[in-house]
Amino acid sequence: MATTILLRNGLVVDGTGRAGFTADVLIHGDTIVQVGHIDPASAERVIDCDGLVVAPGFIDVHTHDDAIVLEAPDMLPKLSQGVTTVIVGNCGISLAPVITDAPIEPLGLLGNAHFRFDRLAGYADAVDAAGPAINVAALIGHTSLRAATMKDFSRPATADERVGMANCLRQAMDDGALGLSSGVFYENAFAADERELVEVAAAAAAAGGVYATHIRTELEGILDAMQEAARTARRSGLPLILSHHKCAGPANWGRTRETLALMDSLATRQPIGLDVYPYTAGSTVLREDLVDGVIDILITGSEAHPEMTGKRLADIAALWGISQQEACRRLIPGGACYFQMTEDDVQRVLAHPRTMIGSDGLPHDARPHPRLWGTFPRVLGHYCRDLGLLPLERAVFKMTGLPAAQFGLGRRGTIACGNFADVTVFDPQRVRDRATFADPEQVSAGIRHVLVNGATSYEEDNASSISRNGRFLRRDN
Ligand code: ZN
Ligand code: CU
Repeated sequence: MATTILLRNGLVVDGTGRAGFTADVLIHGDTIVQVGHIDPASAERVIDCDGLVVAPGFIDVHTHDDAIVLEAPDMLPKLSQGVTTVIVGNCGISLAPVITDAPIEPLGLLGNAHFRFDRLAGYADAVDAAGPAINVAALIGHTSLRAATMKDFSRPATADERVGMANCLRQAMDDGALGLSSGVFYENAFAADERELVEVAAAAAAAGGVYATHIRTELEGILDAMQEAARTARRSGLPLILSHHKCAGPANWGRTRETLALMDSLATRQPIGLDVYPYTAGSTVLREDLVDGVIDILITGSEAHPEMTGKRLADIAALWGISQQEACRRLIPGGACYFQMTEDDVQRVLAHPRTMIGSDGLPHDARPHPRLWGTFPRVLGHYCRDLGLLPLERAVFKMTGLPAAQFGLGRRGTIACGNFADVTVFDPQRVRDRATFADPEQVSAGIRHVLVNGATSYEEDNASSISRNGRFLRRDN
């Protein structure tokens, strides 16, 4: 039997970007049925939201949660931030459609997952069978398509291989994918030329997909890399999403003035969006080419030397009496946080009107970057309330209505009658991230109630009791 829940007297920040207003929100089953002044007698359960913000559940547009939603479906790191939907399959890395026992790098970012789905439909069924606490929508990774189609990754795909990848993507779009992601920054996709990317991506155009990309470089060559991404999206007929936008490396600091100006000028010719996480450190696999001897690097895990997890690379190098590059080689394979950005650049990107919020959290790391647990409350607390970088309504829009529109998540992302009841109720005075680099696995403060598809799934006062009501989301559904 469907229950009726009334969220009473909250400040409704509805995800459209417009000013918040005091109202009641009535939920029946999995749907929002009324917004306004509502008689509490009409509900079986009333949640007092006086002094609290009632917002659409947050959409984490950039995740690597493909496998963790199956392995650890409680999804506490995300649910406790108010996230109700994750978009998986970013940076060219997706669990489907590829079957392999020896995933090429960087597919290993998904942990020791079994790549066992030859179609997205199989992954979707697995998600629904696992029953995660939050909704899951999927991009298809170009590197995964390469892994499914090619043997030699050091060259561009042949005509046959391009057709093979395009057919896989077309089938995945039929199964409900949101579009294609690429990670040409990473070795096993770096050799892909524009023709390969365009011909594959174009297979998502008819179904209305997007092209999200971790561009070839975020260092000094970033403008050229952005132009390549923009041409690829234009020629394949897809809206472009620039993933985790940043200017990385000391020689590149301050240049978000240029990159955001380029973005704005590109936007006059083609649909374009971007996402960001609110930290000055990035995180990915350990790579020697990212060790410049200048920036701080924090080890998040190492297969050869797990005891070095949580230590700075400079300290490890000093301890071993070798260079940082040599220490890096000894620690590989592993992961790291790279303190490669400036605060000014991060703030400029966060405040940009096209920017969405995506955690880029890495759930399989031994000691993950705190963005996995803290991204959304950090934007709302630190950047929005404490620093006044942007108004609350704009911050919520970046987490809800904007991503729902950009990725085609139909009846999600706004508080409106007839929409699915994904709702996050938070205390605007108390909301705050607790996760730190030293102690990253911490639930946030001030996230009071999280509802997923109309069911109460997380309560701050009873954080250990999670109920799981997520679904696999197909595009425009
Ligand atoms: Zn990436
Ligand atoms: Cu990523």
